[in-house]
Amino acid sequence: MAQLSLSLLSFLLFFSMQAASLALLDPLLKSVSNTVDAVGDGLKKVTVTVSDTVSPSYSLHDSNETLRSAGIFIKKTNFLYGPAVGGGPYFPTGPLGLAKVTADQALINLELGSQLALVSLDLVDSTLSASQYNGLKKLDDYVLLYKDQLRRSLPDGPELGALTNFTQDLFFSMERLANSPYMIKRLLPASDTLQFTVNDAIVKDVTNSTLQQLFDSGRLFYADYRAHNDLIRAARYSAACDAYFYIDSKSGANLIYTPLDSANDWLLAKIMYNVNDFFFAQTSHLASTHEVVQIAYMAAIRTMSDNHPILALLNRLMYQAFAIQPLALNRGLINSTLGPELSSFPFFEDGSVIFASLRTFMSTFVSSYYLNDAAVKADAELQAWVQEARGPAAARDFPTITSTDDLVDVLTHIFSSGGLFARPLLEGTNRTLVHMFDDQSMLSRMNDQTRTAAAKFMKDMQTFSTKYLL
Ligand SMILES: *[C@@H]1O[C@H](CO)[C@@H](O)[C@H](O)[C@H]1NC(C)=O
Ligand SMILES: *[C@@H]1O[C@H](CO)[C@@H](O)[C@H](O)[C@H]1NC(C)=O
Ligand SMILES: *[C@@H]1O[C@H](CO)[C@@H](O)[C@H](O)[C@H]1NC(C)=O
Ligand SMILES: *[C@@H]1O[C@H](CO)[C@@H](O)[C@H](O)[C@H]1NC(C)=O
Ligand SMILES: *[C@@H]1O[C@H](CO)[C@@H](O)[C@H](O)[C@H]1NC(C)=O
Repeated sequence: MAQLSLSLLSFLLFFSMQAASLALLDPLLKSVSNTVDAVGDGLKKVTVTVSDTVSPSYSLHDSNETLRSAGIFIKKTNFLYGPAVGGGPYFPTGPLGLAKVTADQALINLELGSQLALVSLDLVDSTLSASQYNGLKKLDDYVLLYKDQLRRSLPDGPELGALTNFTQDLFFSMERLANSPYMIKRLLPASDTLQFTVNDAIVKDVTNSTLQQLFDSGRLFYADYRAHNDLIRAARYSAACDAYFYIDSKSGANLIYTPLDSANDWLLAKIMYNVNDFFFAQTSHLASTHEVVQIAYMAAIRTMSDNHPILALLNRLMYQAFAIQPLALNRGLINSTLGPELSSFPFFEDGSVIFASLRTFMSTFVSSYYLNDAAVKADAELQAWVQEARGPAAARDFPTITSTDDLVDVLTHIFSSGGLFARPLLEGTNRTLVHMFDDQSMLSRMNDQTRTAAAKFMKDMQTFSTKYLL
């Protein structure tokens, strides 16, 4: 169960960014159309009045297509691509783009405020308890640093076993497979080479094989943080590590890396590796989830009517395309062409359950709005989204969408990120995974099939959660 919550934590990062964007375009559109004349040149003039009262059902077409196109035109001319912020793809600008960024930031600040207040109180407590952990001179003092601390910001305390088992090699290896599998990959002789050598006698002592034998038999894994050498250094920093892991030939079980160094040297190596790993997980998460999906979402805003059911779903949840499935396949963690399978890969196993439920939801959603492949090709707004993403938005590798299957794949990919946040304050609120599609104002404008599928998704996720609650 500890593993589940860890892996969900990674899945669930940053929904806060997303929730902030819910249903914002509706009110924004209204205020834009109200201020068209007053603002003048800042906005392209479009004489359209957007109704303040009617929220029609989402559909691919409106009864008044002129009005619908005008709504898209307003967004296309006022929600613009601006310079990247902190690297990555374009960032919103233009009157509508800036308004959305401002509103999102206000919401996130509001929400983070209450969490940060708890952290501050905890910090005061920790400082007052300083005598309890003896000036952090020994490793055991660090256990005291966490023991019975952080009770406000982390009410359930650290993960089970983290304070008791953190020096174990098994714990260390399972962190790769339950918590942070972003860097590790299997080395395949057909495409890879050994990255450093280790004395054969030592490797033999640890593994009963040579490094070459492990490599040749597809049992050797590698994670490379050498690039951390090039980062700007703070006063205290970890060495940049690269590391081998291997599948034990006897147990065939977990990746265990056990150099025969002195206990403290080995422990320090693992600590440094984890510093690298944590840093990487954050930056990789930003680049391969937020930034990837952000640009696809921007393209959707500019090309689809707010009455389009796909944009409605994207509005509900748009950050994070985790893509764990392709990532894990490419790195030999699942269905490897060589070597034994991992006998336990909790991050993937938990993610697969969520992924399968999402795909089921998306299949129903897509088939309820699109009769067949021809309907997908004929949806001008959907195709405009694809063209926009592949063209002006400069999204990388955005696929073409010419069939219902393609559409299910793309939507499942985007949403498989989960995109809900696992901060303690959000527990029990509608911001957790279970509630991904549980937005009554959105669902009331969807069709019956989608509502039923959303209810099923919720039930499946509840069942999945309770299985791990103890
Ligand atoms: C569509 O809406 C516009 C703006 O309200 C209106 O001028 C036009 O007559 C409508 N067209 C139809 C076919 O109802
Ligand atoms: C800690 O390690 C021990 C010994 O390997 C194991 O029995 C126990 O289940 C572990 N505790 C947790 C919470 O994982
Ligand atoms: C290596 O093989 C020997 C003999 O079969 C065995 O006793 C030993 O436990 C093995 N060591 C490892 C690390 O697998
Ligand atoms: C892995 O292989 C199994 C069995 O061939 C297959 O059912 C499964 O879909 C594959 N997984 C992925 C992610 O390709
Ligand atoms: C989630 O819950 C909050 C607080 O109860 C509520 O204000 C908000 O409208 C809900 N959001 C959705 C999408 O249902």
